[in-house]
Amino acid sequence: MITLKSQREIDMMKKAGELLADTHKQIAKMIKPGITTWEIEEFVDKFLRDHGATPEQKGYQGYQYATCASINDEICHGFPRKTPLKEGDIVTIDMVVNLNGALADSAWSYPVGKVSAETQKLLDVTKKSLYKGIEQVKPGNRIGDIGHAIQEYVEAQDFSVVRNFIGHGIGPTIHEKPEVPHYGLPHKGARLKEGMVITIEPMVNIGGFETKMDNNGWTARTMDGSLSAQYEHTVAVTKDGVVIITDQGEDKA
Ligand code: MF3
Ligand code: CO
Repeated sequence: MITLKSQREIDMMKKAGELLADTHKQIAKMIKPGITTWEIEEFVDKFLRDHGATPEQKGYQGYQYATCASINDEICHGFPRKTPLKEGDIVTIDMVVNLNGALADSAWSYPVGKVSAETQKLLDVTKKSLYKGIEQVKPGNRIGDIGHAIQEYVEAQDFSVVRNFIGHGIGPTIHEKPEVPHYGLPHKGARLKEGMVITIEPMVNIGGFETKMDNNGWTARTMDGSLSAQYEHTVAVTKDGVVIITDQGEDKA
């Protein structure tokens, strides 16, 4: 069932999203060669609790951490760890904030120090694809319009869109209906309605879209070892269009 949220619920999710956006802005300042994703994990856990919130991913279906930290060819659900990040790496930090019962979910990819031109292009294209998807969010459009816009743009840039992991409705739990693929056909799928809150979270690979699973049962990485990036926002469908719940006030171009 797709739950529709009231204005009050959306306002509460926006508060959770503002805290999540602030958390990402802090992380952006921390990321440099030598830091570990374990330090980021500890920072996030404390920062959220200091602000009256809890990390919703911790304990979710047995997941043990506040953050997912996916490095280089890891697509998603990487575990935070004590290995230092190196110059030229990319790392995606994904988290879900629970503030007074309201949820917000946002992942962001970060370059570590100076990255290659191709890596920077992957980051730029992936972020832009997220905003291409968000542009399609308005009452009357369909889920397929979102995925189609993302896929068309990413493939024109000669990258690929991961199929095995998709966006989702959110609230009251992390994963709700509808499913939100980052590929597909225009004018297909469920119609977007005022009060729906969903995530859009394209994972984009330099090589092929195929994935493989680590032995830990969580971490997905690219089959061909190519780099993978991800940007994710939680968005609400409103009467006039869209509200980005996890907006960092960044460039939307
Ligand atoms: N934030 C993730 C998403 O975008 C959820 C990860 S589930 C977890 O869907 F258990 F790994 F936290
Ligand atoms: Co997420």
